[in-house]
Amino acid sequence: MMKRILVTVIAAGLSLAGPVWAAPSSQVAWTQETMRLIEGGDAEKGKQLNASCAGCHGAEGISPNPIWPSTAGQNAAYTYKQLRDYKDGTRDNAIMMGMVMALSDQDMADISAYYAALPLPAPQGDGGNDAALKLVKAGDSERLIAACNTCHGRKGEGNQRSHGMPAIAGQMPQYFVQTMQLYRSGGRANDVYGIMRNIAKDLTDEEISGLANYYAAQDAR
Ligand code: HEC
Ligand code: HEC
Repeated sequence: MMKRILVTVIAAGLSLAGPVWAAPSSQVAWTQETMRLIEGGDAEKGKQLNASCAGCHGAEGISPNPIWPSTAGQNAAYTYKQLRDYKDGTRDNAIMMGMVMALSDQDMADISAYYAALPLPAPQGDGGNDAALKLVKAGDSERLIAACNTCHGRKGEGNQRSHGMPAIAGQMPQYFVQTMQLYRSGGRANDVYGIMRNIAKDLTDEEISGLANYYAAQDAR
């Protein structure tokens, strides 16, 4: 009896505490086995597998359409996690789910190695504005937004060692805006601990577009 009351109280407390994300945000655990699989990815095989991806992401990982992400130069741990997340639906996207359905974990590691071996995209555009620069370098303590560069690197080059902090330098600005809006609405929910959802929820459309332009113009090659 006592136990049941306790459980009820805890459950009620949780639902009052804020949004409860029902499913885990990713099934990928950074075990030694996973890290070894990623480090052992075969870029040559990945290049061959990329033949069925090249229509949208480019033969060299540079997307031909600004609504699709470039994948060139992306760190392998991040790419691998995204592919796994698409396959099991934790990153919800019908096109990509279909694309990865037949891929094994080894295939995903090979593709990730291929992308990681390519240079990051060349910079494009005018570089955002002062408000974006402030968010990148200092964040905003009022809204508890941490500076973007603490995680994404000084030039947006990302950080492979810290379990796949993505490179965002040279990324297609339209894709950047779209994915930030998805984090903001919860439509993209595969970020562990809601790291990006918590940041994006307080950003305005103007700030997101300033940030997209800022990072598109960064040269981290
Ligand atoms: C018909 C176009 C299309 C094809 C073909 C395609 N993709 Fe994608 N890809 C997309 C779109 C659109 C997105 C963004 C989806 C979203 O918002 O989650 C995406 C996202 C991705 C991402 C996440 C990038 C990031 O920065 O988070 C990776 C990695 C990726 N695709 C790899 C692949 C691989 C590998 C293949 C081939 C097996 C492939 N894609 C085939 C359209 C495509
Ligand atoms: C505490 C660390 C941290 C901070 C601070 C942070 N990010 Fe992120 N960001 C991440 C992680 C981790 C991911 C990948 C999450 C996932 O697996 O979906 C990510 C993903 C992203 C993506 C998606 C990349 C892609 O290719 O789809 C964008 C865009 C992005 N962040 C922009 C920003 C911007 C802009 C800021 C500053 C306003 C920022 N981030 C601050 C950790 C951080």
